[in-house]
Amino acid sequence: MTTPAPPGAAAGADAPTFADPDLEHLHQRGYFDSLVGLVKGGKEATVYLVGRGEERLAAKVYADLESRSFRNDAGYWAGVYVPDRRVAKALKQRSRVGQAAQQAIWVMREYANLWRLVEAGLPVPRPAIGPAVSECAEAGSVVLMEFVGHGDTPAPRLSDVRLSAAEAEAAYRQSVDLLLRLARLGLVHGDFSTYNLLWHDGRVVLIDVPQLLEVASAARQARELLERDVVSLVTSFRRHRVEGDAEALRREALRSLPRD
Ligand SMILES: Nc1ncnc2c1ncn2[C@@H]1O[C@H](COP(=O)(O)OP(=O)(O)OP(=O)(O)O)[C@@H](O)[C@H]1O
Ligand SMILES: [Mg+2]
Repeated sequence: MTTPAPPGAAAGADAPTFADPDLEHLHQRGYFDSLVGLVKGGKEATVYLVGRGEERLAAKVYADLESRSFRNDAGYWAGVYVPDRRVAKALKQRSRVGQAAQQAIWVMREYANLWRLVEAGLPVPRPAIGPAVSECAEAGSVVLMEFVGHGDTPAPRLSDVRLSAAEAEAAYRQSVDLLLRLARLGLVHGDFSTYNLLWHDGRVVLIDVPQLLEVASAARQARELLERDVVSLVTSFRRHRVEGDAEALRREALRSLPRD
């Protein structure tokens, strides 16, 4: 993807502030007025810290289609119904049109899932666009949301932070509670580990939710992903010297899923 130029670095008076067209579009629409810095660059997405006056927001910009691997695991797309037959065919064939549709659906899924979790009272960043679908559709490849951090400093991921034994226990307890609350709602995160859990003021915040699956729409895949989430969570907490019981948690998580 193209990186945004620093604010004020553009040449003429009418030149855009952000080189990335989707960021520039949201900037023009008044969603934010400045680029403060880079939170994290990655393969799938780059997260920027942007400012609306004194307020801070996180802008997760998905990479260009060519450089994206997507989470192509078929399980992540199970139960996603695409009513447009031409688009459904393009998705299957992974044509250019199909990739563009995949990208758009992926971003819309992240907004929809974040809103759903906010409304359910789970600790996730609150989206700064929506919940109206027409508003979210305007965001292009950008997920604009609450910035989790203090001042301009982002909260660390649980995979990167050093914790005392008591903090590690508390973080693990909260993470397990989150996984089970999702299960009780009939939802499976699908990438649940300390890499997608932020540690903010002694509280765990869950991020990175485009692939969240509804058990009702794809029971087998969702159960498989849930079992994998349990293993990822328990394994990724070992570096904090927390030995969770993966088998017991697996049974409890599967039991927590709604019965049909
Ligand atoms: N709302 C937020 N507030 C603060 N930091 C955030 C926020 N969202 C994401 N981050 C930071 O950006 C990183 C990447 O975000 P995320 O996990 O959503 O993307 P990703 O799809 O995993 O990207 P990649 O695969 O390229 O790493 C996170 O690990 C976290 O450090
Ligand atoms: Mg992530």
